[in-house]
Amino acid sequence: MKIKKKKMMMMKKMRRVYRLEGKVALITGGASGIGQKTAQVFAHHGAKLVIADIQDELGHSVCQSIASGAAGNDATYVHCDVTDESHVKTAVEKAIKSYGKLDIMFNNAGIGDPKKSRIIDNEKGDFERVLRVNVTGVFLGIKHASQAMISAKGGSGGSIISTASVASCMGGLASHAYTCSKHAVLGLTRNAAVELGQFGIRVNCVSPYGLATPISQIFHGLNVEELEGLYGSMANLKNVTFKEDDIANAALFLASEEGRYVSGHNLVVDGGFTIANSSFPMFQYPEINHA
Ligand SMILES: NC(=O)c1ccc[n+]([C@@H]2O[C@H](COP(=O)([O-])OP(=O)(O)OC[C@H]3O[C@@H](n4cnc5c(N)ncnc54)[C@H](O)[C@@H]3O)[C@@H](O)[C@H]2O)c1
Repeated sequence: MKIKKKKMMMMKKMRRVYRLEGKVALITGGASGIGQKTAQVFAHHGAKLVIADIQDELGHSVCQSIASGAAGNDATYVHCDVTDESHVKTAVEKAIKSYGKLDIMFNNAGIGDPKKSRIIDNEKGDFERVLRVNVTGVFLGIKHASQAMISAKGGSGGSIISTASVASCMGGLASHAYTCSKHAVLGLTRNAAVELGQFGIRVNCVSPYGLATPISQIFHGLNVEELEGLYGSMANLKNVTFKEDDIANAALFLASEEGRYVSGHNLVVDGGFTIANSSFPMFQYPEINHA
């Protein structure tokens, strides 16, 4: 009986498709939320990971849980403030030193600013802080990752992904600084995709709809349950709860062979939120209760 079970488990393992087998990925903002979930999904698919964040304790625990998980993958933590060029350079070097190369860079670290709806109440310092993390951080990530990918033996290409937002293509969803920063991430993605295509490097971004992670809990001053309720009530796609896994799987597509000809793309994962004009409700069924 025991032997039969072992055999079945082995067969199951053999059938499993590892979409990132042999790949090395660096994830900024990997200690929490979307970054943490993506680290788990990438590890599940065979990638070796470098988790870069400023929350050291959390980052180390993500690495430990990956190393002790079913896949038992290699994962290393590095303290990295993405606004500091020497930190970003060191994080990329850590990937090369630990695992010999860098195949996937996920520029995911991001912050919001205080919820102030009038521009006249917005502080220059808050505005610049958001741009430093959300834009300069992504710029530095693309710069140092692409340098490592280009100079790798054989220039084997690579995949660079950044986390933008539905605020990358719409106004009025977030603060001025945040909206501005995410539009900039899209611009940077497109420009870098044009430059780096000649080296076989793909550059894309993912744009999530609202998720109840710490960044949005702090911004709205709501707990997870309240925030999921709020986002759910405004969502275009009903009967589905949007989760971090949805972004992790979008990033997995862009990182893997399945996305091998996708570059310069903004993969909007929003259940149709950004293409629906809710001020012109052509398709409302009053008999359906959307609560
Ligand atoms: N949660 C949402 O509703 C939502 C929607 C669209 C886009 N996003 C974007 O998703 C990304 C991830 O956010 P999340 O929702 O997982 O939130 P989160 O707060 O759980 O994660 C953000 C991570 O970034 C890290 N970080 C912040 N500043 C940093 C810095 N200077 N250097 C390195 N790391 C830093 C934090 O420590 C944290 O681990 C962000 O870019 C965010 O703008 C989030």
